[in-house]
Amino acid sequence: ALVAMRQLLDHAAENGYGIPAFNVNNLEQVQAIMEAAKETGAPVILQASAGARKYAGELFLEHLIRAAVESYPDIPVAMHLDHGRSKASCVSAMRHGFTSVMMDGSLMPDGKTVSTYEYNVETTRCIVETAHCIGVSVEGELGCIGSLETLTSEKEDGQGAEGTLTREQLLTDPDQAVDFVRETQLDALAIAIGTSHGAYKFTREPTGEILSIDRVKEIHARLPNTHLVMHGSSSVPQEFLAEIRKFGGEMRETYGVPVKEIQTAIKHGVRKVNVDTDIRLAMTAAIRRFIFENPSEFDPRAFMKAARKAEKEMCKSRYLAFGCEGQG
Ligand code: G3H
Ligand code: 13P
Ligand code: NA
Ligand code: ZN
Repeated sequence: ALVAMRQLLDHAAENGYGIPAFNVNNLEQVQAIMEAAKETGAPVILQASAGARKYAGELFLEHLIRAAVESYPDIPVAMHLDHGRSKASCVSAMRHGFTSVMMDGSLMPDGKTVSTYEYNVETTRCIVETAHCIGVSVEGELGCIGSLETLTSEKEDGQGAEGTLTREQLLTDPDQAVDFVRETQLDALAIAIGTSHGAYKFTREPTGEILSIDRVKEIHARLPNTHLVMHGSSSVPQEFLAEIRKFGGEMRETYGVPVKEIQTAIKHGVRKVNVDTDIRLAMTAAIRRFIFENPSEFDPRAFMKAARKAEKEMCKSRYLAFGCEGQG
Protein backbone atom coordinates (compact mmCIF):
# COMPACT_ATOMS: atom_id res chain seq x y z
CA ALA A 1 0.00 0.00 0.00
CA LEU A 2 1.01 3.60 -0.59
CA VAL A 3 1.82 5.19 2.78
CA ALA A 4 3.13 8.50 4.07
CA MET A 5 6.87 8.46 4.64
CA ARG A 6 6.39 9.61 8.23
CA GLN A 7 4.72 6.30 9.05
CA LEU A 8 7.72 4.34 7.75
CA LEU A 9 10.26 6.54 9.54
CA ASP A 10 8.36 6.41 12.85
CA HIS A 11 8.40 2.61 12.66
CA ALA A 12 12.12 2.65 11.80
CA ALA A 13 12.84 4.87 14.81
CA GLU A 14 10.79 2.70 17.17
CA ASN A 15 12.62 -0.38 15.99
CA GLY A 16 16.11 1.06 15.51
CA TYR A 17 16.71 0.61 11.80
CA GLY A 18 17.23 2.80 8.72
CA ILE A 19 15.51 2.70 5.33
CA PRO A 20 17.42 3.12 2.08
CA ALA A 21 15.59 5.58 -0.20
CA PHE A 22 16.36 4.51 -3.73
CA ASN A 23 16.10 6.86 -6.70
CA VAL A 24 14.02 5.62 -9.62
CA ASN A 25 13.96 6.67 -13.25
CA ASN A 26 12.57 3.71 -15.16
CA LEU A 27 10.65 0.44 -15.05
CA GLU A 28 13.58 -1.87 -14.38
CA GLN A 29 14.78 0.16 -11.39
CA VAL A 30 11.31 0.12 -9.81
CA GLN A 31 11.05 -3.64 -10.37
CA ALA A 32 14.52 -4.34 -8.94
CA ILE A 33 13.77 -2.44 -5.72
CA MET A 34 10.36 -4.08 -5.24
CA GLU A 35 11.80 -7.58 -5.75
CA ALA A 36 14.60 -6.82 -3.28
CA ALA A 37 12.05 -5.59 -0.75
CA LYS A 38 9.88 -8.66 -1.28
CA GLU A 39 12.80 -11.02 -0.78
CA THR A 40 13.91 -9.27 2.43
CA GLY A 41 10.53 -8.17 3.81
CA ALA A 42 11.60 -4.51 3.77
CA PRO A 43 9.55 -1.31 3.62
CA VAL A 44 10.14 0.82 0.51
CA ILE A 45 10.89 4.46 -0.23
CA LEU A 46 10.96 5.18 -3.95
CA GLN A 47 12.12 8.69 -4.80
CA ALA A 48 12.17 10.75 -7.96
CA SER A 49 14.65 13.56 -8.58
CA ALA A 50 14.36 16.53 -10.90
CA GLY A 51 16.59 14.58 -13.28
CA ALA A 52 14.20 11.63 -13.13
CA ARG A 53 11.25 13.88 -13.91
CA LYS A 54 13.15 15.31 -16.85
CA TYR A 55 14.08 11.83 -18.10
CA ALA A 56 10.80 9.95 -17.62
CA GLY A 57 8.19 12.63 -16.96
CA GLU A 58 6.32 13.01 -13.70
CA LEU A 59 3.28 11.13 -14.98
CA PHE A 60 5.28 8.07 -16.03
CA LEU A 61 7.07 8.02 -12.66
CA GLU A 62 3.77 8.32 -10.82
CA HIS A 63 2.24 5.42 -12.70
CA LEU A 64 5.34 3.23 -12.51
CA ILE A 65 5.22 3.62 -8.74
CA ARG A 66 1.46 3.03 -8.64
CA ALA A 67 2.00 -0.15 -10.66
CA ALA A 68 4.59 -1.25 -8.11
CA VAL A 69 2.16 -0.64 -5.26
CA GLU A 70 -0.58 -2.62 -7.00
CA SER A 71 1.76 -5.46 -7.92
CA TYR A 72 3.09 -5.81 -4.37
CA PRO A 73 0.02 -5.02 -2.22
CA ASP A 74 1.65 -6.23 1.01
CA ILE A 75 4.68 -3.94 0.84
CA PRO A 76 4.33 -0.45 2.32
CA VAL A 77 5.68 2.10 -0.19
CA ALA A 78 6.32 5.82 0.21
CA MET A 79 6.45 7.83 -3.02
CA HIS A 80 8.86 10.69 -2.38
CA LEU A 81 9.98 13.76 -4.30
CA ASP A 82 13.76 14.05 -3.97
CA HIS A 83 15.27 17.56 -3.81
CA GLY A 84 12.19 19.63 -4.60
CA ARG A 85 13.76 22.98 -5.43
CA SER A 86 10.65 25.14 -5.24
CA LYS A 87 7.22 25.29 -3.69
CA ALA A 88 5.79 24.72 -7.18
CA SER A 89 7.60 21.41 -7.69
CA CYS A 90 6.48 20.19 -4.26
CA VAL A 91 2.87 21.14 -4.96
CA SER A 92 3.03 19.49 -8.38
CA ALA A 93 4.29 16.26 -6.79
CA MET A 94 1.46 16.37 -4.24
CA ARG A 95 -1.05 16.75 -7.07
CA HIS A 96 0.45 13.63 -8.64
CA GLY A 97 -0.13 11.63 -5.46
CA PHE A 98 3.34 11.68 -3.92
CA THR A 99 3.02 10.80 -0.24
CA SER A 100 6.17 12.68 0.70
CA VAL A 101 8.11 15.65 -0.64
CA MET A 102 11.51 17.10 0.02
CA MET A 103 11.47 20.88 0.11
CA ASP A 104 15.19 21.50 -0.28
CA GLY A 105 15.44 25.13 0.74
CA SER A 106 19.17 24.92 1.38
CA LEU A 107 19.58 26.29 -2.14
CA MET A 108 17.54 28.80 -4.11
CA PRO A 109 15.20 27.42 -6.83
CA ASP A 110 18.05 27.72 -9.37
CA GLY A 111 19.72 24.87 -7.45
CA LYS A 112 23.05 26.73 -7.52
CA THR A 113 22.84 29.61 -5.08
CA VAL A 114 23.06 29.01 -1.33
CA SER A 115 19.94 30.39 0.35
CA THR A 116 19.61 32.39 3.54
CA TYR A 117 18.47 30.61 6.69
CA GLU A 118 15.32 32.78 6.72
CA TYR A 119 14.41 31.73 3.17
CA ASN A 120 14.90 28.07 4.06
CA VAL A 121 12.68 28.31 7.16
CA GLU A 122 9.94 30.23 5.35
CA THR A 123 9.79 27.98 2.30
CA THR A 124 9.98 24.74 4.24
CA ARG A 125 7.37 25.86 6.78
CA CYS A 126 4.98 26.83 3.98
CA ILE A 127 5.24 23.40 2.32
CA VAL A 128 4.86 21.62 5.69
CA GLU A 129 1.63 23.55 6.36
CA THR A 130 0.18 22.56 2.99
CA ALA A 131 1.44 18.97 2.97
CA HIS A 132 0.25 18.15 6.48
CA CYS A 133 -3.30 19.21 5.56
CA ILE A 134 -3.42 16.26 3.17
CA GLY A 135 -1.29 13.75 5.10
CA VAL A 136 1.86 14.19 3.02
CA SER A 137 5.26 14.07 4.79
CA VAL A 138 8.00 16.65 4.33
CA GLU A 139 11.77 16.36 4.36
CA GLY A 140 13.78 19.57 4.71
CA GLU A 141 17.52 20.19 4.42
CA LEU A 142 19.78 22.32 6.56
CA GLY A 143 23.39 22.86 5.51
CA CYS A 144 24.92 22.20 2.11
CA ILE A 145 25.53 18.60 1.06
CA GLY A 146 29.09 18.62 -0.29
CA SER A 147 32.72 17.63 0.10
CA LEU A 148 34.82 18.66 3.09
CA GLU A 149 37.91 17.60 1.10
CA THR A 150 37.40 19.94 -1.84
CA LEU A 151 34.92 22.39 -0.22
CA THR A 152 32.63 22.02 -3.23
CA SER A 153 29.16 20.75 -3.89
CA GLU A 154 28.79 21.18 -7.65
CA LYS A 155 28.96 18.02 -9.76
CA GLU A 156 30.39 17.61 -13.27
CA ASP A 157 26.90 18.04 -14.69
CA GLY A 158 26.55 21.44 -13.01
CA GLN A 159 24.15 20.34 -10.26
CA GLY A 160 24.68 21.65 -6.74
CA ALA A 161 25.87 24.87 -5.13
CA GLU A 162 28.32 26.87 -7.26
CA GLY A 163 31.80 27.84 -6.15
CA THR A 164 33.73 27.24 -2.96
CA LEU A 165 31.89 26.60 0.27
CA THR A 166 33.09 26.91 3.85
CA ARG A 167 33.40 24.02 6.32
CA GLU A 168 30.65 25.76 8.29
CA GLN A 169 28.25 25.58 5.34
CA LEU A 170 29.12 21.92 4.73
CA LEU A 171 28.36 20.79 8.29
CA THR A 172 24.86 21.27 9.69
CA ASP A 173 24.95 23.36 12.85
CA PRO A 174 23.24 21.49 15.73
CA ASP A 175 21.84 24.64 17.39
CA GLN A 176 20.42 25.87 14.12
CA ALA A 177 18.98 22.41 13.48
CA VAL A 178 17.01 22.60 16.74
CA ASP A 179 15.61 25.98 15.71
CA PHE A 180 14.89 24.78 12.15
CA VAL A 181 12.89 21.75 13.30
CA ARG A 182 10.90 23.84 15.77
CA GLU A 183 10.16 26.55 13.21
CA THR A 184 9.22 24.26 10.32
CA GLN A 185 7.70 21.21 12.04
CA LEU A 186 9.10 19.00 9.26
CA ASP A 187 9.00 15.19 9.38
CA ALA A 188 12.60 14.44 8.41
CA LEU A 189 15.76 16.51 8.39
CA ALA A 190 18.51 16.08 5.81
CA ILE A 191 21.87 17.03 7.27
CA ALA A 192 25.26 17.89 5.79
CA ILE A 193 28.11 15.78 7.21
CA GLY A 194 30.60 15.66 4.34
CA THR A 195 28.87 13.32 1.93
CA SER A 196 28.26 14.55 -1.60
CA HIS A 197 26.19 13.37 -4.56
CA GLY A 198 27.62 11.21 -7.31
CA ALA A 199 30.46 8.70 -7.62
CA TYR A 200 33.37 11.00 -6.68
CA LYS A 201 32.81 11.58 -2.99
CA PHE A 202 36.22 11.00 -1.41
CA THR A 203 39.75 10.65 -2.82
CA ARG A 204 40.58 8.15 -0.05
CA GLU A 205 38.77 5.92 2.44
CA PRO A 206 36.94 8.53 4.49
CA THR A 207 38.04 9.35 8.04
CA GLY A 208 36.20 11.50 10.59
CA GLU A 209 37.81 14.66 9.16
CA ILE A 210 35.96 14.32 5.86
CA LEU A 211 32.93 12.23 6.89
CA SER A 212 31.58 13.50 10.18
CA ILE A 213 29.55 10.80 11.90
CA ASP A 214 30.33 12.82 15.05
CA ARG A 215 28.11 15.55 13.65
CA VAL A 216 25.26 13.04 13.29
CA LYS A 217 25.71 12.17 16.96
CA GLU A 218 25.73 15.82 18.02
CA ILE A 219 22.56 16.58 16.10
CA HIS A 220 20.79 13.44 17.33
CA ALA A 221 21.72 14.28 20.93
CA ARG A 222 19.96 17.63 20.51
CA LEU A 223 17.04 16.28 18.43
CA PRO A 224 16.41 12.73 19.65
CA ASN A 225 12.89 12.66 18.17
CA THR A 226 13.74 13.97 14.70
CA HIS A 227 14.24 11.54 11.83
CA LEU A 228 17.59 12.33 10.21
CA VAL A 229 18.34 11.82 6.52
CA MET A 230 21.72 11.13 4.94
CA HIS A 231 22.11 12.18 1.32
CA GLY A 232 24.99 11.14 -0.91
CA SER A 233 25.07 7.77 0.83
CA SER A 234 26.17 5.46 -1.94
CA SER A 235 29.03 3.22 -0.89
CA VAL A 236 30.64 3.15 -4.37
CA PRO A 237 31.79 -0.48 -4.01
CA GLN A 238 35.28 -1.05 -5.41
CA GLU A 239 33.99 -4.28 -7.08
CA PHE A 240 31.61 -2.24 -9.23
CA LEU A 241 34.40 0.14 -10.26
CA ALA A 242 36.68 -2.78 -11.10
CA GLU A 243 33.97 -4.45 -13.16
CA ILE A 244 33.21 -1.24 -15.08
CA ARG A 245 36.92 -0.72 -15.83
CA LYS A 246 37.42 -4.37 -16.80
CA PHE A 247 34.74 -4.09 -19.47
CA GLY A 248 35.87 -0.85 -21.06
CA GLY A 249 34.53 1.85 -18.74
CA GLU A 250 36.58 4.73 -17.43
CA MET A 251 36.28 5.69 -13.79
CA ARG A 252 38.84 7.51 -11.67
CA GLU A 253 39.90 6.28 -8.25
CA THR A 254 37.15 7.12 -5.79
CA TYR A 255 35.60 6.11 -2.48
CA GLY A 256 32.05 6.24 -1.17
CA VAL A 257 30.38 6.09 2.23
CA PRO A 258 31.26 2.76 3.90
CA VAL A 259 28.23 0.71 4.96
CA LYS A 260 29.80 0.47 8.45
CA GLU A 261 29.65 4.26 8.83
CA ILE A 262 26.01 4.28 7.76
CA GLN A 263 25.26 1.57 10.34
CA THR A 264 26.78 3.78 13.04
CA ALA A 265 24.73 6.74 11.82
CA ILE A 266 21.57 4.60 12.01
CA LYS A 267 22.36 4.01 15.68
CA HIS A 268 22.27 7.80 16.06
CA GLY A 269 18.97 8.81 14.49
CA VAL A 270 19.46 8.39 10.74
CA ARG A 271 16.27 6.79 9.39
CA LYS A 272 16.45 7.52 5.65
CA VAL A 273 19.57 6.83 3.60
CA ASN A 274 19.58 8.13 0.02
CA VAL A 275 21.13 5.86 -2.60
CA ASP A 276 21.23 6.55 -6.32
CA THR A 277 24.83 6.23 -7.55
CA ASP A 278 25.19 2.60 -6.40
CA ILE A 279 22.18 1.75 -8.58
CA ARG A 280 23.87 3.38 -11.56
CA LEU A 281 27.15 1.58 -10.90
CA ALA A 282 25.52 -1.82 -10.38
CA MET A 283 23.50 -1.54 -13.58
CA THR A 284 26.34 -0.18 -15.68
CA ALA A 285 28.75 -2.86 -14.51
CA ALA A 286 26.22 -5.58 -15.37
CA ILE A 287 25.37 -4.11 -18.77
CA ARG A 288 29.04 -3.68 -19.73
CA ARG A 289 29.82 -7.27 -18.76
CA PHE A 290 26.73 -8.65 -20.50
CA ILE A 291 27.35 -6.86 -23.78
CA PHE A 292 31.03 -7.83 -23.75
CA GLU A 293 30.23 -11.49 -23.08
CA ASN A 294 27.27 -11.64 -25.49
CA PRO A 295 28.36 -9.63 -28.53
CA SER A 296 25.63 -11.02 -30.78
CA GLU A 297 22.80 -10.11 -28.41
CA PHE A 298 20.75 -7.17 -29.65
CA ASP A 299 17.58 -7.45 -27.56
CA PRO A 300 17.82 -4.75 -24.89
CA ARG A 301 15.66 -6.87 -22.62
CA ALA A 302 18.57 -9.25 -22.25
CA PHE A 303 20.94 -6.66 -20.90
CA MET A 304 18.26 -4.83 -18.93
CA LYS A 305 17.54 -8.13 -17.19
CA ALA A 306 21.19 -8.40 -16.20
CA ALA A 307 21.11 -4.80 -14.97
CA ARG A 308 17.90 -5.36 -13.01
CA LYS A 309 19.34 -8.42 -11.31
CA ALA A 310 22.53 -6.57 -10.32
CA GLU A 311 20.50 -3.70 -8.90
CA LYS A 312 18.27 -6.10 -6.99
CA GLU A 313 21.28 -7.73 -5.33
CA MET A 314 22.72 -4.35 -4.32
CA CYS A 315 19.35 -3.23 -2.90
CA LYS A 316 18.95 -6.45 -0.94
CA SER A 317 22.35 -6.00 0.60
CA ARG A 318 21.48 -2.43 1.72
CA TYR A 319 18.08 -3.54 3.12
CA LEU A 320 19.83 -6.22 5.17
CA ALA A 321 22.72 -3.98 6.29
CA PHE A 322 20.40 -1.19 7.42
CA GLY A 323 18.20 -3.55 9.47
CA CYS A 324 15.08 -3.61 7.27
CA GLU A 325 14.65 -7.38 7.16
CA GLY A 326 11.06 -8.31 8.01
CA GLN A 327 10.12 -4.71 8.94
CA GLY A 328 7.91 -4.03 5.89
O1 G3H B 1 20.14 14.22 -5.93
C1 G3H B 1 20.87 13.47 -6.55
C2 G3H B 1 20.37 12.23 -7.14
O2 G3H B 1 21.44 11.34 -7.33
C3 G3H B 1 19.60 12.48 -8.41
O3 G3H B 1 20.41 12.78 -9.51
O4 G3H B 1 19.18 14.57 -10.82
O5 G3H B 1 20.87 13.06 -11.93
O6 G3H B 1 18.64 12.19 -11.22
P1 G3H B 1 19.75 13.18 -10.94
P1 13P C 1 24.32 9.15 -4.07
O1 13P C 1 24.80 9.94 -5.24
O2 13P C 1 25.41 8.93 -3.07
O3 13P C 1 23.67 7.88 -4.45
O4 13P C 1 23.22 10.04 -3.31
C1 13P C 1 21.89 10.09 -3.76
C2 13P C 1 21.10 11.18 -3.09
O5 13P C 1 21.47 11.77 -2.09
C3 13P C 1 19.80 11.51 -3.70
O6 13P C 1 19.16 12.58 -3.06
NA1 NA D 1 14.99 13.36 -0.52
ZN1 ZN E 1 20.40 14.12 -2.26
